[in-house]
Amino acid sequence: MSSVDFTAADDATIAALDRDDPLRAVRDQFEIPEGIIYLDGNSLGALARPVAERVGAVLTREWGRDLIGAWVSAGWIDMPRRVGAKVAPLIGAAPDEVVVADSTSVNLFKCILAAADLNRPRSVILTERGEFPTDVYVAEGVEQATDGRLRHRPCAPGALAASIDADTAAVVLSHVHYRSAQLRDMRALTATAHAAGALAIWDLSHSAGALRVDLAAAAADFAVGCGYKYLNGGPGAPAFLFAARRHHAAMRSPLTGWLGHAAPFGFEDSYRPAEGVGRFICGTPGVLGMSALEASLDLLGGLDIAAIERKGRRLGDLFIALVERRCAGFGLTLASPRDAAERGCHVALRHPQGYPIMRALIERGVIGDFREPDALRFGFAPLYLRYREVQAAVDILHDILSSGRWRQPRYAERQSVT
Ligand SMILES: Cc1ncc(COP(=O)(O)O)c(C=O)c1O
Repeated sequence: MSSVDFTAADDATIAALDRDDPLRAVRDQFEIPEGIIYLDGNSLGALARPVAERVGAVLTREWGRDLIGAWVSAGWIDMPRRVGAKVAPLIGAAPDEVVVADSTSVNLFKCILAAADLNRPRSVILTERGEFPTDVYVAEGVEQATDGRLRHRPCAPGALAASIDADTAAVVLSHVHYRSAQLRDMRALTATAHAAGALAIWDLSHSAGALRVDLAAAAADFAVGCGYKYLNGGPGAPAFLFAARRHHAAMRSPLTGWLGHAAPFGFEDSYRPAEGVGRFICGTPGVLGMSALEASLDLLGGLDIAAIERKGRRLGDLFIALVERRCAGFGLTLASPRDAAERGCHVALRHPQGYPIMRALIERGVIGDFREPDALRFGFAPLYLRYREVQAAVDILHDILSSGRWRQPRYAERQSVT
């Protein structure tokens, strides 16, 4: 058990945690609106000031002044590789093993087909039921797109290792589960996959930028992840894609766009793949989104990821301890691992009326989110959250539960984004 015991935490303990927080000053780099306790950085990271400045400069100085020349003068054309190289140290990859392009879903499609192609004649893509939907849907789409040459086989939650067999071409799994925050043993699962002849594709959306991730140590084959969660790249930020160097010579991208060509400005009649992971670039990068992500990575790159991980876990430990002390008897149950070493950077609580409770919290300025059927998710982004905000959020949760305010009918009306 590597959790910190906060069962007796009082105001002085919490004040000391903030005072001694090595990341305390990083908060000042972020725009957090007054009166908001932002517990949703696991879904959409907050805006950092250097990001706003960089995007402003791209608009006015680069696009506005240099126009098309900025593809070269501002290095826009190099962004997928350059920004990828800045993601690399956060995930235990070499700079030439990562590109930033497209969305996580699209990158997953590329990785699944590339992995299965490397592992012919094996034909099964193994996922776990209950994973983030896109991971499962994309595997289903791969089956359709290949007219069943590749087959998607979802197994029961937790049964991935035991379900790998001689047909398994690749397994797809999230490093941290999007709902429960359960952290998977990447090294052990990858080793199990390899021992059975399968390749391992990891979705790092809920760990990159929040936890120490070491793809090299795990000998992972491929990985993908979001740019807009703990990487704080902004809404719809481009995603990243990792391919281990040992696969570079033989791997093929199924999306053979012109910017993944060996010589995009040769305008040749037929496709030739770019060197290495660059072949997973497909079309023109969205420069504004890339710029936002790059500025955010520049900020993150100067910080100690071990300190980030430690703080995220402590924030989660404090939240669990305070909820169990202050909100007992209201029907909440912990849906995340209690042991911080097995948890990502968010905590899920279950309640049969989770949706209206979350709506009531949001109205009071405590922003978390809700995941069907009954999970209230609270994200503890270590860069900009204070311990005393965790305490204040639990006080508000207690108030909403004890007053029954969440029962007001308007809180039950579902919004399009939950
Ligand atoms: C684990 C996981 N994978 C993938 C995605 C989706 O990524 P994208 O919208 O970039 O395709 C999400 C989004 O929340 C996610 O949580």
